[in-house]
Amino acid sequence: MAERTIPLLDERTIHTTAVVPPQTIAADGKLLDRRGRPLRDLRISVTDRCNFRCGYCMPKEVFNKDYAYLPQSSLLTFEEITRVARVFVSHGVRKIRLTGGEPLLRKNLEILVQQLAALRDADGAPLDLTLTTNGSLITKKAQALNDAGLQRVTVSLDGLDDAVFRRMNDVDFPVADVLQGIEAAHRVGLGPVKVNMVVKRGTNEQEILPMARHFKGTGVVLRFIEYMDVGATNGWRMDEVLPSADVVARIHSEFALVPLEAAKPGETAQRWAYADGSGEIGVISSVTQAFCSDCNRARLSTEGKVFLCLFANRGHDLRDLIRGGVSDTDLASAIGSIWQGRSDRYSELRASLPADTTTTGGKRVEMSYIGG
Ligand code: GTP
Ligand code: 5AD
Ligand code: SF4
Ligand code: SF4
Repeated sequence: MAERTIPLLDERTIHTTAVVPPQTIAADGKLLDRRGRPLRDLRISVTDRCNFRCGYCMPKEVFNKDYAYLPQSSLLTFEEITRVARVFVSHGVRKIRLTGGEPLLRKNLEILVQQLAALRDADGAPLDLTLTTNGSLITKKAQALNDAGLQRVTVSLDGLDDAVFRRMNDVDFPVADVLQGIEAAHRVGLGPVKVNMVVKRGTNEQEILPMARHFKGTGVVLRFIEYMDVGATNGWRMDEVLPSADVVARIHSEFALVPLEAAKPGETAQRWAYADGSGEIGVISSVTQAFCSDCNRARLSTEGKVFLCLFANRGHDLRDLIRGGVSDTDLASAIGSIWQGRSDRYSELRASLPADTTTTGGKRVEMSYIGG
């Protein structure tokens, strides 16, 4: 097994401080990046901690008891997050996803949900407000989150076999509790619930068909994600990626599938319907079929840095601006100029880049820090 080393330089400290540009950038929803891509989706990481240790995300050898998580004082407060989100919405964001780490570990998260649920787009419509969770705490919190205005949830689940699942979460968490969580979310109205399964060849590929059988006809949308080379600690290897085309072929051999049109531009998943009308699945193929060309996603880290790509190695720090008393107009201009300067398209370039490269040079940040 490859040796893992603890970096001397913490990549989370490398950042560009956001600046207010000399000209005001209007927050009229028309913002485009250098590749003509609009800004529509904001993913907000509310904690860098998680109670699971999935090897592809937070391997135990690195995320052990000595790992330096962000101190409480670094975190944006709910009010700060909501303020930044409001400005992003004025620039055209229509969808907000809360992520982590495990977002439900952040205390009183329903209060943030309530604040975000009150935001309206330029037409006065509420946002698509959702959350990605590992499902371990959702049974307890589903009702409160729904009451606070959360619209739906996505639950990560990498297999139905209890032994396989316990091995993948690496904290011996039982699959039955996550399944109960998915049902609770569905019951209180946090649907359509999506279930995301990261597929690793040789690890959980045998779970593809049992997962498809289990969720077919339940209203839950199951999505299969290609194992990605995100972060710098998971020891990613191409031979552990099972291409989505194989996933589709395996399911199609048991249940006929027909392709569906994308619901919105910039979607991560390619959708397939069961030919018998019993629902749909999705595949997210960031390795074999990059979807950067219309990527409209920005990420806000727990401590207030804007990341323009999952594979970036530096963020644009907004926290100093906010804590320094910036006006909303200036904050909008600062965010506008960050987006206008964006040209990232890592997944499209992956094949032609040397191993472990980032869009901006240097070491990649972890997904648990900037959010999935
Ligand atoms: P829905 O609106 O519910 O369909 O969600 P989504 O399509 O935005 O997907 P979700 O947040 O569930 O993301 C699923 C997975 O896709 C993530 O966990 C990542 O593995 C991957 N993913 C999401 N966004 C990106 C992206 O911008 N780039 C890459 N390379 N992968 C992404
Ligand atoms: N490859 C693909 N998806 C990943 N996630 C985390 N790490 C990876 C990776 N290396 C995604 C999974 C998980 C979510 C929290 O983050 O979708 O469900
Ligand atoms: Fe936690 Fe999700 Fe990462 Fe697993 S993939 S370690 S559940 S944040
Ligand atoms: Fe967007 Fe970067 Fe993912 Fe491409 S690799 S889809 S640019 S986040």
